[in-house]
Amino acid sequence: MDESNESDLSHESLIHDLNNVFETITEAAELLNSDRRWKPLAAALTRSVTRGKRLLGAIPDGTPNLARIVDDAIASVTDYCVAARKPRMRFSSRVPSDIRLPGSSKDWERVFANLFLNAAQIMRKPGRIDIETQIAEGALCITVSDNGPGIPQDLLPRVFRPNVSTKKGAAGRSGLGLHIVDSIVKKYSGRVSAANRERGNGAVFTIFLPPV
Ligand SMILES: Nc1ncnc2c1ncn2[C@@H]1O[C@H](COP(=O)(O)OP(=O)(O)OP(=O)(O)O)[C@@H](O)[C@H]1O
Ligand SMILES: [Mg+2]
Repeated sequence: MDESNESDLSHESLIHDLNNVFETITEAAELLNSDRRWKPLAAALTRSVTRGKRLLGAIPDGTPNLARIVDDAIASVTDYCVAARKPRMRFSSRVPSDIRLPGSSKDWERVFANLFLNAAQIMRKPGRIDIETQIAEGALCITVSDNGPGIPQDLLPRVFRPNVSTKKGAAGRSGLGLHIVDSIVKKYSGRVSAANRERGNGAVFTIFLPPV
């Protein structure tokens, strides 16, 4: 067997085995769903399985529509907050319904899910996340801002590098989210920057995509 076949096989077999994991979660969700008290959690598990399958490529990827992708990422992080008993986030998405993005929906869902998840994980009380867009001369600018504690100043210049994290207890396994965001945005010839709000608390991430 040559090397490319081997890597195909390992990719295929990974998808196969992850689908088995999803199968177990789906069965458990069905069981939970039979008890009224656990219905919301069952629904959250089922949505997470659908997202996982989409990321794996087991479900066809649609044309990337920014508003839809943002809504999916909001649902994903809201499910996380419920399941992890985190304070709920209030999202305000001011995204026109007709903005298309280059490339694949699953890439962009990873971008927004990682940005929203970081804000949700860092907040100690219910908070707010705003998503806004601006279009100028065909270029698209998307901002995601929150009202959390903001990014520590010393972290700001290197926050997109891998393994930069303030998370405790996950030795070496944290600090990937923003690196993934940066890599995906660059893949589509864009750039992403991080800053803190000038007024009040909170972080602001700005994604710039040049005209296509
Ligand atoms: N919205 C935010 N507010 C404040 N700090 C943030 C925010 N987003 C990211 N950070 C800081 O940047 C660090 C790096 O974020 P990144 O997503 O790359 O890694 P992580 O969240 O720590 O771990 P992982 O994403 O791999 O689970 C975080 O640990 C946190 O300190
Ligand atoms: Mg993260």
